[in-house]
Amino acid sequence: MNSYKWYSPDEDATLRLGWIIGELAEPGDTIALIGQLGSGKTVLARGVAAGLGIEGRITSPTFTLIREYRGRLPLYHFDLYRLEDPREVEALGCEEYFYGRGITLVEWADRAISSLPEERLEIRFTYIDDGRCLEFRAIGSRYRQLLEEIVRIMDIAR
Ligand SMILES: Nc1ncnc2c1ncn2[C@@H]1O[C@H](COP(=O)(O)OP(=O)(O)O)[C@@H](O)[C@H]1O
Ligand SMILES: [Mg+2]
Repeated sequence: MNSYKWYSPDEDATLRLGWIIGELAEPGDTIALIGQLGSGKTVLARGVAAGLGIEGRITSPTFTLIREYRGRLPLYHFDLYRLEDPREVEALGCEEYFYGRGITLVEWADRAISSLPEERLEIRFTYIDDGRCLEFRAIGSRYRQLLEEIVRIMDIAR
């Protein structure tokens, strides 16, 4: 599955989606989140962390670009909101994160999209009515498979 559009009525629905992604995640997965302030990226990140068995609260890494958490797999949580130059991401030595055994989740991924792995699951958040519209795009066979699994489980869970 290449793409999928889903309406999230509230925060809990986005949290549950994140949980599913966290449970399905495999070493080296990259998830790129795109959308304006308050659109739900950190809510999804919290769900992913919970699905990975990470305890405690995930906050946006406001003053650092990245925060690392330990769960079933490591979670590398990037927030590029304050990124001034896309080259800063390369200066972090991200290859170790991107191609390691952890899960990379990037808020504001559009700010350094060309520095991210080409194969990834992208999720675009937009405001719609009282909730959010989430548009998934899977690039690469691993992510097409992941998206298919996500959608199958969401359908069952409805
Ligand atoms: N469907 C939804 N999914 C996620 N958050 C939602 C939704 N509807 C309303 N919200 C609210 O929007 C805000 C999203 O905040 P946050 O995840 O921090 O945004 P971002 O990280 O994209 O800046 C929260 O206050 C949350 O309660
Ligand atoms: Mg955020």
